[in-house]
Amino acid sequence: MRTGDVDTLDLPEIDLFGDAFRTGRHDDVAAARERHWLARTGIGYLVLTYEAVHAVLRHPDLKFASMTLLGGGELGALMYERSQRNLLHRHGERHTQFRKLVNRAFTPRTVDRLRPDMRRLFADLLDPVCRRGSCEFVREVAFPYPPQMICALLGVDGSRWREVSDWVEVLFSSFQLDPANRPRIWETQQQLDAAMLEVVQRKRVEPGDDLVSDLLAVEVDGDRLSDVDIATLADNLITAGTDTTRNQLASGVFDLAIRPDQRDALVRDRSLLPGAVEEMLRYRPVVPGTMREALAEVEILGVRFPRGTVLLPAFTAANRDPAVYPDPERFDITRDHAQPVQTFGGGAHFCLGAALARAELHESLDLVLDRMPNFVIDGDPDAVPWKPMVGIGGPEALPLRFDPGH
Ligand code: HEM
Repeated sequence: MRTGDVDTLDLPEIDLFGDAFRTGRHDDVAAARERHWLARTGIGYLVLTYEAVHAVLRHPDLKFASMTLLGGGELGALMYERSQRNLLHRHGERHTQFRKLVNRAFTPRTVDRLRPDMRRLFADLLDPVCRRGSCEFVREVAFPYPPQMICALLGVDGSRWREVSDWVEVLFSSFQLDPANRPRIWETQQQLDAAMLEVVQRKRVEPGDDLVSDLLAVEVDGDRLSDVDIATLADNLITAGTDTTRNQLASGVFDLAIRPDQRDALVRDRSLLPGAVEEMLRYRPVVPGTMREALAEVEILGVRFPRGTVLLPAFTAANRDPAVYPDPERFDITRDHAQPVQTFGGGAHFCLGAALARAELHESLDLVLDRMPNFVIDGDPDAVPWKPMVGIGGPEALPLRFDPGH
């Protein structure tokens, strides 16, 4: 039976913390998807098809839920309260209003004015490694790039990129779900909030050509953003825009390095690059999925879920749904992307930084193809270590070699 109350359905089971899922192997997901668009897991229902992920992300009675907020205590309560200010945790009208103001300031122009910075910063990162003809791409190139771009976006002094990166590292340790991390995470959250509030207050006095100054100037129907709103958003951009883009870049470089024919096609014809970026995003979405909690009884594609049900839309599974992507396990930069990839989510919470991330990937890969055109993995590609597909995925390290001197 494929429709009815979810409790009565005969559904496949997937172990989210088992080896196959954690390491991004897709055989069990593909087998489960043949049986149903839903699978049971220890923490909720995994949503496996493109159509169903699309529907879940747009359902008005499903709200973002975070695993990191499970567990209680005084500190847990404080962290929960603070989290409710974040864009992703806002729901309904509270989210729409905030996002409307933010969208007014964060526009295609915001991204375009950063493109020269992207190229300059990335070229500086490539200079020393191109002289050498080898690098550890994750540590030397991908890691420093997005935090420097977020600093440029917000109008924060670029020399603070390492501090920004360290904050993100601690805040993402919350994905380890270990309550022992809580005091450090909370302390870091407070440091980040204080630092961002200081940036906002300084920009009030000395505005510049940056997003924080633009957010301070925004007004829609008499509504404005408060200093705390803008500081919270700056925090959200830092945490959402750092680890994601750096891992997506490293994953894409891996996929080209092991497919020299597709890499060479890109070297010859840069008009293929936008399609290649989409294929990298489809094939290895570094955010493997998200969580939603039902605020009321909901019905999706004929299945009823009681209030409180946790649903886990899986971008990894949706992006390899054969109903949308023929031969989905094949990486192909010339693939027709008539349907958008699900990597940036969808609906009200569609990634605010998607255009920025695509531009960062585009500009950096363009330079990689210019300056290290014959890059390959230095060693055995099967030995490249990958992060588990919970939290944010990507290679832990990526040794490359190429002809020096470009
Ligand atoms: C390849 C890089 C990136 C990926 C894969 C990614 C993925 C995502 C996904 C899947 C969501 C939706 C989550 C959900 O609905 O539960 C999201 C939301 C968000 N992303 Fe990204 N992201 C990336 C880069 C960025 C960048 C560069 C920024 C900003 C500088 C950013 C800022 C945000 C924000 C603020 C939200 C929350 C939007 C809202 O709740 O309205 N992201 N991202």
